[in-house]
Amino acid sequence: MVRFSQVGLRYPDPVRGAAAGERETLRDLSFTLPQGSFTWLTGPSGAGKTSLLRMMQLSLRPTRGEVEVLGMPLSRARRADLPRLRRRIGAVFQEFRLLPYLTAFDNVALPLRLAGRPEAGLRPDVTEMLRWVGLDGREEALPPQLSGGEQQRVAIARAVVTRPSLLLADEPTGNLDAAQARRLMMLLEEMNRLGATVVVATHSRDLIAQHPGHVMALEGGRIVSLDPWPHAAEAGPETAAALLAGEVDDGSALEDGSGDAEEAPGPGDAVEAGRARRGVWPGPRPPEADLG
Ligand SMILES: Nc1ncnc2c1ncn2[C@@H]1O[C@H](COP(=O)(O)OP(=O)(O)O)[C@@H](O)[C@H]1O
Ligand SMILES: [Mg+2]
Repeated sequence: MVRFSQVGLRYPDPVRGAAAGERETLRDLSFTLPQGSFTWLTGPSGAGKTSLLRMMQLSLRPTRGEVEVLGMPLSRARRADLPRLRRRIGAVFQEFRLLPYLTAFDNVALPLRLAGRPEAGLRPDVTEMLRWVGLDGREEALPPQLSGGEQQRVAIARAVVTRPSLLLADEPTGNLDAAQARRLMMLLEEMNRLGATVVVATHSRDLIAQHPGHVMALEGGRIVSLDPWPHAAEAGPETAAALLAGEVDDGSALEDGSGDAEEAPGPGDAVEAGRARRGVWPGPRPPEADLG
């Protein structure tokens, strides 16, 4: 599950420092993505999609509000909790961050090894994942010997090999041809079927049309639409209104926008204010078996 309550993000001004940033890059984000949901994140370039995914990945701390991922409110997470939480999050970003001196196999095996999986047990999983993304036979290749699309597919295999509870992908089909993109979508949908919460940023209307899910549209740092809209009976009309009520400012903006989640936890005092205005996706709530 991913829950944002009145989240704002302000990047520090590179010249004038943290307090000087004039406006928030992301504002008044309140929503809940139930465990096991599939959400498209759309919006024009610069709308804040990558920044939002980074906060969900716990690699970027919000300036205000509360981010709760996998049952852990970030404001209450200790620094020592973060690596363990992040290990349950698979992410495919646009920079692949493959280790250039490790083979494709070893790059994909890395998260399993970091999680302490015995060597004998991980080989079949890594091989199967590489086959799924169409890289069988390339196990021993180093990233510099692979094309951009192939590197991206290694990164995808690495993101899903641990069967993460939360899977984030930032325009993952950008470097892929149509057949590879279809295969990737099958993989994401399979992970979703197995219970992962999946969030995919994309520009592609075709992709969304072919693979229906919730759609969260961002524009200028705000959520401009949630489709399907929360049912009034479940969420209350004030919820739907609050989802768009970016102009409502609770005055709790923090001065410091620098936000690496590795830093000491920031204050979470905007949380209570945010709770009252939280958006909820429609549909039955799944059992929250994934907490903790
Ligand atoms: N590290 C950063 N420091 C300062 N500003 C940033 C940083 N990353 C992104 N931004 C700004 O935040 C806004 C949203 O960017 P981004 O999240 O990358 O949007 P999108 O992924 O939708 O294109 C843009 O105006 C961008 O310039
Ligand atoms: Mg982006």
